[in-house]
Amino acid sequence: MTRRPPIYLDNAASTPCDPRVVEAMTPFFTTSFGNPACRHGWGTEAAEAVESARADAANLIGAAPGEIIWTAGATESNNLAIKGVARAAPGGHCHIVTSAIEHKAVLQPCTRMQAEGFEVTFVAPEHDGVITAEQVAAALRDDTLLVSIIAVNNEIGTLSEVREIGALCRDRGVLFHTDATQMVGLLPVDVRRDTIDLLSFSGHKISGPKGVGALYVRDRDPPIAIQPVIEGGGHERGLRAGTLNVPGIVGLGRACELCAVNLGDEGPRLLALRRRLEDGLRQRLGDVAINGDPVRRAPHITNLCLPSPAGTAIVEHLREVACSSGSAIGAAGRTSSHVLAAIGVPDELAMTSLRLSLGRTTTAEQIDLAIDHLVETVENLRRTASRLT
Ligand SMILES: Cc1ncc(COP(=O)(O)O)c(C=O)c1O
Repeated sequence: MTRRPPIYLDNAASTPCDPRVVEAMTPFFTTSFGNPACRHGWGTEAAEAVESARADAANLIGAAPGEIIWTAGATESNNLAIKGVARAAPGGHCHIVTSAIEHKAVLQPCTRMQAEGFEVTFVAPEHDGVITAEQVAAALRDDTLLVSIIAVNNEIGTLSEVREIGALCRDRGVLFHTDATQMVGLLPVDVRRDTIDLLSFSGHKISGPKGVGALYVRDRDPPIAIQPVIEGGGHERGLRAGTLNVPGIVGLGRACELCAVNLGDEGPRLLALRRRLEDGLRQRLGDVAINGDPVRRAPHITNLCLPSPAGTAIVEHLREVACSSGSAIGAAGRTSSHVLAAIGVPDELAMTSLRLSLGRTTTAEQIDLAIDHLVETVENLRRTASRLT
């Protein structure tokens, strides 16, 4: 059987479903299983649950319920936003601005649009990993159609200047999409205040289920022209065909409702825990480098390089803490993260990096234990290295 490390600090990858979410979902697998497109009682019951979830999702981000399109997750939301807007573009608007530190679920659709004839500018951040409105302004052109900038970077947790970029785009008549998968539910988001035209988020990052997400698409002043990527029976205002994942949608709605209730408390709680983790490691190990701006960061993610023997992938030696690293082993061998590379972290250092991400179930005791285990692992690696030299 797979051995699971006892301390889970990989919430940016996925969060456990809140039991209250599971409870809300359960009847929609069994007793209330109707297809919401059907006009009988079973269908109506499911349709009402879907609409109630839509209102909860909209409420969390300051949108109107009719502006929420259900998808299978943030990857699909990003694809729909980028490909959908690009393919519906009026003639002459053929330029897209994004950043070099987006999730692959934005980078790949942008690359696809390049293959379909669009020009794409990838804004590069400074060493701090913050995408600023000034950098975006410098990339805008007369024929820019869309700006797509990540709200909170999923690897290093840095915040982009979402509000300022929103204002800039509105001012220049350019559409603004943000992948807010790591922001929604943890930090306040208001699509009207921040003049966001399209916004992606996902269920499993906010204590909801996997395989369900949402795309907010502004539908007023004026509505946004967007083409579907998945076509069929005309569900979701014709923007995303397919029988709705009713249990998943109900779960995402409940997750949004719970986030809205806790929004004011959860961010500060996670920030205090993250600081406890960073300070604890610094006190015991000294030279701990945090990747990305130390302040302009979401509360739940830290990405750091611990002072270990050069090139050691610490993540492979950690037995008690589940987390991610800044490198991945692929067909081409070990490759380091495009995000760390974009902010100028040398490859050898990126190999030693760890992303530790906190969530609703993270406690102060777990943080203290994680510090002990991380320190112990680094000290063991150092001892082994000094024996070998
Ligand atoms: C910023 C960001 N965008 C998109 C995704 C993809 O989300 P999903 O798993 O819902 O497709 C993730 C998840 O890793 C993410 O962190």
